[in-house]
Amino acid sequence: MAWRFMEPDDLAQVVAIAEVVHPDHPEDRAVLAERRDLYPPGCLVLEADGVGSALGGYALSHPWTFAAPPPLNGLVGALPAAPDTYYVHDVALLPSVRGRGEAAVIVAGLVARARAEGLDNLSLVAIGNAHGFWARHGFQPHELPGLRDPAKGYGETAAFMVLRL
Ligand SMILES: CC(C)(COP(=O)(O)OP(=O)(O)OC[C@H]1O[C@@H](n2cnc3c(N)ncnc32)[C@H](O)[C@@H]1OP(=O)(O)O)[C@@H](O)C(=O)NCCC(=O)NCCS
Repeated sequence: MAWRFMEPDDLAQVVAIAEVVHPDHPEDRAVLAERRDLYPPGCLVLEADGVGSALGGYALSHPWTFAAPPPLNGLVGALPAAPDTYYVHDVALLPSVRGRGEAAVIVAGLVARARAEGLDNLSLVAIGNAHGFWARHGFQPHELPGLRDPAKGYGETAAFMVLRL
């Protein structure tokens, strides 16, 4: 298995993976495509069985404004001129490729990307039961009023989490 940068042609598979992994948090193809177009260095896919094979997962991330996570399934328009966090929009692996350390590999890659951008923290909204995974990687909960507002779309268990570098 190997991570590589996401290409526009990967979007159909990325959407299909998102539908399997996040059935309760659907996002439009346009939303995922916009993030990739805005920040290709932060958007990667996992080739499950080597170069050219079907995809087993993806990661979407980009510089952003701290403590202002975009509503789920929302277009953002542009990246901020003066970002102060490296935002992890999503890391999602199909169940068949989990437990092999590939999520840890990409988290390390995203941390390196944040450092390359000169940012001193990464942040994300943990949904479902992913809080423990992020905590293992050093992310800590950070109170963010309004995060669980239904309009945000993250759900009632959502938690804003921060990794300070
Ligand atoms: C979270 C996710 C990316 C982790 O992928 P993975 O392949 O299991 O991760 P890795 O193989 O790199 O790491 C596995 C380790 O993390 C631990 N882990 C995985 N998911 C965990 C969770 N939800 N809570 C606590 N620990 C978790 C495993 O127990 C394992 O520990 P070990 O190394 O001691 O055996 C994957 O489960 C996934 O895609 N989940 C659904 C999507 C999701 O919730 N993404 C995050 C959105 S905020």
